Amino acid sequence: MTPSSLLLGACRTLVIFQLLACCLLPLGAQSQSQEFSLQMEPQDPVLPAGRSLLVNCSTSCPHPELITLETSLPKEVIGEDQGWAAFRLSNVTGDSKIICSAFCDGFQMTSSSNITVYRFPELVELDLLPPWQPVGENLTLQCHVWGGAPRAQLTLVLLRGEEELSRQPAVGEPAEGTATVLAGRGDYGAKFTCRAELDLRPRGLGLFQNTSAPRQLRTFVLPMAPPRLVTPLSLEVGTSWPVDCTLDGLFPVSEAQVQLALGDQMLNPAVTIHGDTLRATATVIAREDQEGAQEIVCNVTLGGESREARKNLTVFTFLGPILNLSETNVTEGSKVNVSCTAGPRVQVMLDGDLARAPGEPAQLQVTATEGDDGRYFFCNAILEVDGKILHRNVTVQLRVLYRNSFVVSILIGVLVILGVVTATVALICIFGKQTRSGFYHVNQRDTSLPLRPVQPNEAVELEQS
Ligand SMILES: *[C@@H]1O[C@H](CO)[C@@H](O)[C@H](O)[C@H]1NC(C)=O
Ligand SMILES: *[C@@H]1O[C@H](CO)[C@@H](O)[C@H](O)[C@H]1NC(C)=O
Ligand SMILES: *[C@@H]1O[C@H](CO)[C@@H](O)[C@H](O)[C@H]1NC(C)=O
Ligand SMILES: *[C@@H]1O[C@H](CO)[C@@H](O)[C@H](O)[C@H]1NC(C)=O
Ligand SMILES: *[C@@H]1O[C@H](CO)[C@@H](O)[C@H](O)[C@H]1NC(C)=O
Ligand SMILES: *[C@@H]1O[C@H](CO)[C@@H](O)[C@H](O)[C@H]1NC(C)=O
Ligand SMILES: *[C@@H]1O[C@H](CO)[C@@H](O)[C@H](O)[C@H]1NC(C)=O
Repeated sequence: MTPSSLLLGACRTLVIFQLLACCLLPLGAQSQSQEFSLQMEPQDPVLPAGRSLLVNCSTSCPHPELITLETSLPKEVIGEDQGWAAFRLSNVTGDSKIICSAFCDGFQMTSSSNITVYRFPELVELDLLPPWQPVGENLTLQCHVWGGAPRAQLTLVLLRGEEELSRQPAVGEPAEGTATVLAGRGDYGAKFTCRAELDLRPRGLGLFQNTSAPRQLRTFVLPMAPPRLVTPLSLEVGTSWPVDCTLDGLFPVSEAQVQLALGDQMLNPAVTIHGDTLRATATVIAREDQEGAQEIVCNVTLGGESREARKNLTVFTFLGPILNLSETNVTEGSKVNVSCTAGPRVQVMLDGDLARAPGEPAQLQVTATEGDDGRYFFCNAILEVDGKILHRNVTVQLRVLYRNSFVVSILIGVLVILGVVTATVALICIFGKQTRSGFYHVNQRDTSLPLRPVQPNEAVELEQS
C-alpha cells in the first residue's frame, strides 16, 4: 500500500463516518435529496444458510457518489455502473442487517434490509419409549430437535400415527417437545413420531417438515393376582403327575412367557391360549435325587414383570413291603421264618403285629401244622407323607405237605371192598350162564312135545323177575 492510497482510505472512512453522522442531523437537511431514492434488491431476503447473496443498490439520483454496502459479511463488488452497484455477500450463515448508502448532491441516502437465514434441523429425535408400557398409565413422550432456524418459525409436533398429540414452539438448544398419553390396549404396536415444522410460508417459501424415525410402543396388562397352580401334594419317585398353571386377564396374551419348574428342574410345559387366558401343563416325573420337600414354581412373565405361584410337594420313595418266607413249601412240623421289610420310614405290620419302629422289619416264626396248609401271611406297609397315610399290602401263601397213614388205610379198605364186590359179581355172572345153556338143549331135541311146566323154565323166570 502506497502512502497516497493509505491517505485516500483514511479520508474515505472519515467521510463515511461524517456522512453517516448526517443521518442524525435534522430531517430538513436530507429533504433535498428525498426526491431521489436508494433501493436495495432484494428486500428482506430469506435464504438457506451458507449461501451467497447478490445485493444490488441502485438510485435514481443522476450523479450519485459512493454507493456502498455496509455489512459484517464478506462482500465483493461484482459490478457497478451509473446509478447502481452490485455486491456478492458470501457465507451467509446467520441473520443480519445490511445497509446501502450513497450520496446525492452531497446528501446521504440509505436503505436497509434484513437478511433472514433458514436452516433445517440437524436432528429430530423421539426419545426411547419404555420397552413395555402398562395399560392405564400415562406415558410421556419427549422429542428433541437440534438446530433449525429461524426458531420463531419452528414448531415441534408429536404424533401417534397421523394423530397430532401436541404442538409446541421450539425453545432452547436442543428444543424439547413433550406429550402425555394414557396408554391403552389400542396403543399396542402404535407408532409415535416427532415432526419439526419450519413454516416459511409467511415469507413466501414453503412449509418444511422433518420427521423423526418412528418408535413403536408395546402396551401390556398383567394382573396383580398370582397364577393358579394345581399340583399334587406328594409324588413318589419314578411316578408322573400332571401340573397345571393358569393365569387370565393377560394382554397381549401371545407375548406372555411361562416357566414351570420343580426345584431346579425346568419342566417343559405345553402352553395353550384361550381368550386372555394362558395355560401351561406339564408332566412332572419325580427323580430319586429330588426326594424330600420340593417346590413347584410357576412363573408368568409379561411386559418385563412376572407373577409367580409356588406350591410345596414332597417327593418320596415307598419301597416294599417285601414279605419273605424262609420256605413256602414245607413239611409238617418244620419251622418257617416269616419276615416283612420295607424302605426307611415305612412302618410294617405282619399278620396284625406292628414292627417296633418305622424302617424296622417285622418277623414271626411258625411251626407248620396241617392247618397251616394254604395259610396266607399278609404284611401291611404304612407310610405317612404330609399327613396322608399310604398303604401297601402283600400276601404269601404257605404250603404244608403230609402222607398221612389214616388216608392210606381208608384207601386200602376201599380198594379191598371194590375187589370183593367185583369178584362176587363175576361169579354170579358165570353161574347164570351155565343154567341157561341146559334149558336150550332140552327144547331143541323135542320141539313137538306139548307144553308143560318144567323146573328149569321156572328158574329162568324167577331170575328175570
Ligand atoms: C442493478 O440494478 C440496476 C437498476 O435496476 C440494473 O440496471 C442493473 O443491471 C442491476 N445490476 C445487476 C448486476 O443486476
Ligand atoms: C463462514 O462463516 C463461519 C462462521 O460465521 C466460519 O466459521 C466459516 O469459516 C466461514 N466459511 C467461509 C468459507 O468463509
Ligand atoms: C394422566 O395424565 C393426565 C394429565 O396429563 C391426568 O389428568 C391423569 O390423571 C393421569 N392419569 C394417570 C393414570 O396418571
Ligand atoms: C420368572 O421368570 C423370569 C423370566 O424367565 C425370570 O427372569 C425370573 O427370575 C423368574 N422369577 C422367579 C422368581 O423364578
Ligand atoms: C428271604 O429269605 C431267604 C431265606 O431265608 C433269604 O435267602 C433271602 O435273602 C431273603 N430275602 C429277602 C429279600 O429278605
Ligand atoms: C409248592 O407247591 C405248589 C403246589 O403245592 C407248587 O405249585 C409249587 O411249584 C411249589 N413250589 C416250590 C417252590 O416248590
Ligand atoms: C391294606 O390293608 C389294610 C389293612 O387291612 C387296608 O386297610 C387297606 O385298604 C389295604 N390296602 C390295599 C391297597 O389293599
